[in-house]
Amino acid sequence: MSIESALIIGSGTMGRGIAQVAATAGLTTYVFDANAEQVASALDAIGKSLSKLVEKGKVPADVADGAKSRLKKAATLNDVDWSKVGIVIEAIYENFDAKKALYGELQKRMTPQTILASNTSSISITKLAAATDRPAKFIGMHFFNPVPLMSLVEVIRGIETDDATIEVVESLAKKMGKNPLRCNDMPGFVSNRVLMPLINEAAFALMENVADATTIDEIMKQGCNFPMGPLTLADFIGVDVCLNILEVLHRDLGDPKFRPCPLLRKLVDAGHCGRKSGRGFHSYS
Ligand code: 3HC
Repeated sequence: MSIESALIIGSGTMGRGIAQVAATAGLTTYVFDANAEQVASALDAIGKSLSKLVEKGKVPADVADGAKSRLKKAATLNDVDWSKVGIVIEAIYENFDAKKALYGELQKRMTPQTILASNTSSISITKLAAATDRPAKFIGMHFFNPVPLMSLVEVIRGIETDDATIEVVESLAKKMGKNPLRCNDMPGFVSNRVLMPLINEAAFALMENVADATTIDEIMKQGCNFPMGPLTLADFIGVDVCLNILEVLHRDLGDPKFRPCPLLRKLVDAGHCGRKSGRGFHSYS
């Protein structure tokens, strides 16, 4: 089964990136957000991102124009042609009850064949799948920020996800220009289980005054060839998002090695959530 049309739900950083790569891959791409006003700004940001990629010679101008023409703003879920939508990719905020309520609404409209994928970074795919009428057609499709530039899609199999769904999603990810890599459903999957302790340890190093934030980042950039230091990356992802993922790892794996650094909590309490709030470990103008 080849997917020709997708619905992306959530038009924040991840949702808009996913919508961009879906439309660029030739899919008719609906974008829906409970906050309808945000969709307009998401489409605007996608336009700017595509223009930048054209400028840099990474996307041909006609492909960018085609992508823009395939993006459809869905003011309500009834604006979607459900008979054509082969996959819904959910990229809303990380809250199980909110996702479950959304899936209930989707189920009233999706055909029995429609695949439901979540871009969750930390909630169990098996638990989300069990909250739907289609656990065999439920899958984790974890993209990386900035989606148009990052090549990986982590494909997460829930306990009941069937092989056909995995194959369709892998071939869709390839069509989007991404490299899909499979893993099983465990807290944090592979990426965040490995990345978050690194960010956490950098926060502990800062809190214990081993070095200042810039030096910690430069040491990891220059010494390990990371494109961004771990504290800059935390600001880029969102300090609040990192804290949330660490809390899930700590709770669900029950291992003290995932204990979030108190400095992360302090920054979040202060509203210093990283680049999006103008300040995190570093300051942004
Ligand atoms: N669309 C188009 N262009 C974009 C863009 C987008 N969405 N986002 C950034 N860019 C552009 C910038 O505007 C900048 O353009 P400029 O060169 O004209 O100023 C350019 O990309 C950045 O170029 P740089 O030369 O600074 O950097 P690179 O091209 O070498 O790499 C990067 C940029 C890919 C972001 C690199 O710094 C990187 O790989 N950083 C790490 C990112 C990472 O680890 N992401 C994963 C986070 S974890 C995650 O997402 C999972 C979640 O669950 C937490």
